Amino acid sequence: MLIIGIIGAMDREIRLLRDRMSDVKELRHLHLDFYFGEIRQKKVVVVKSGVGKVNAALCTQFLIDKFSPERIICTGVAGGLLDFLKTGDVVVSKDLIQYDVDASVFGHEVGEIPNMGVKVFNADEELVEKTLYTGKKILKDNKIIKGRILTGDKFVNSREMVEYLVNNFDGFCVEMEGAAIAHVCFLNRIPFVVIRSISDKADGIALLDYKKFVELASKTSAEIVEGLIEII
Ligand code: ADE
Repeated sequence: MLIIGIIGAMDREIRLLRDRMSDVKELRHLHLDFYFGEIRQKKVVVVKSGVGKVNAALCTQFLIDKFSPERIICTGVAGGLLDFLKTGDVVVSKDLIQYDVDASVFGHEVGEIPNMGVKVFNADEELVEKTLYTGKKILKDNKIIKGRILTGDKFVNSREMVEYLVNNFDGFCVEMEGAAIAHVCFLNRIPFVVIRSISDKADGIALLDYKKFVELASKTSAEIVEGLIEII
């Protein structure tokens, strides 16, 4: 049976899914707790990666090596970069960029991984469409849209940085793991999607908003993942 891997950076981002699992077996590796079981009659492995690109990449590769998932879903929150995005809205990854990779001194574009010829990691179109379909059915007061997700090892909290990210990378939202997971999935040829609900606007009051909305946004994203699992 198809195995679906699900990654969230923090406990609150995977809690709902872990609570919905049956027949759960646990495996610990380094700082990672893997929960292997079923959600809606599908085999899933749910794991908390920890925050940041290194944690996300390490977690994704171990998930692949140990469980051989045929699909990988990243769930969690992000800072919204565009004015029309409100807290609780959801961005589904069309594609992702590691905006903080910079080898431009060698003539590479900012974001491009040197000597790999890759800058933009495309999400799996079928997973994206199924996520949009599910999200539209589940969300009541919020919207779900397809867009570019930007990843870097920084919690973004200034208007200047938001403008830089929008103007240079066309990002819809910013977070700290998605493109690292995408990069590992790309190298392993595994279809993936990143689902992010907006917890803040990555501006001067991002920290306040984040503290207020992170719980709800985490839950919103996880609920969409649960719906997606059913139709994969
Ligand atoms: N995750 C949620 N909000 C974020 C922000 N403003 N910057 C980076 N990652 C985030």
